[in-house]
Amino acid sequence: MKTLSAKDRIIFALDVSTIGEAEKYIDLLKDHVGMFKIGLQLFVGEGPKVIDAVLSRSSQAKIFLDMKFHDIPETVKGAIKSANLHGVEFITVHCDEGKGLLKAAVESAGNVNILGVTVLTSISKDDLEDIGITEELRDPSKLVLHRARIAKAAGCYGVVCSGEEVGAVKKEFGDTLITVTPGIRLAGEGIKDDDQKRIVTPYKAIYDGADYIVVGRPIKTSPDPVKTATDIAKEIDRALRER
Ligand code: C5P
Repeated sequence: MKTLSAKDRIIFALDVSTIGEAEKYIDLLKDHVGMFKIGLQLFVGEGPKVIDAVLSRSSQAKIFLDMKFHDIPETVKGAIKSANLHGVEFITVHCDEGKGLLKAAVESAGNVNILGVTVLTSISKDDLEDIGITEELRDPSKLVLHRARIAKAAGCYGVVCSGEEVGAVKKEFGDTLITVTPGIRLAGEGIKDDDQKRIVTPYKAIYDGADYIVVGRPIKTSPDPVKTATDIAKEIDRALRER
């Protein structure tokens, strides 16, 4: 992997409903973040044309299509082939359907890098108990590592995991598995009605080895999104120097 600047490591989550709203953030942030993440809200609302909308506004912008696929291998293969037509950098597939699905995704990936979603950052130990995860793996850090091993064995480019587990994932896999960490919150700043449970600061995520961080609401709801993105980049630089 080429050396990434602090800015390149910031993935902004375009969690809005319309292309118009997305364009506002793209124009504002295109020189301050490395990638734009298109998730379910925007993609379901606007369809694939949203990808072209991002690319046409910034020649450097990279796209992370966060579809979190979770279906039979043949269906996911087809969806990834379609995504490949659009010039996407990263696409996500859940790890919890096992190696077969992840392998099918990797086989059809073409130029897209497949990221396995290990355990959502909004999930706690109690949630894992609720959905029947065995006691041995109920600790999110154990389950994340378990699923990261599956993703690695299937040939994934990387995994999505919280900042609480990224250190353990990096310790085991180093640069052979890229880590993308959502659940980023700024020190001392809460988010109203937050659904994220396994959260860390940009500093901690990068210090512990995250290659990229995904930041949505801390930038989106900031009174000055550019300043917040710039401050996050400074925090990343500090973590890179000190790690
Ligand atoms: O607003 P916030 O910073 O919590 O946004 C996080 C983004 O990262 C959301 O778009 C969410 O869908 C995504 N994400 C996540 N946890 C994962 C994978 C993706 O929060 N495990």
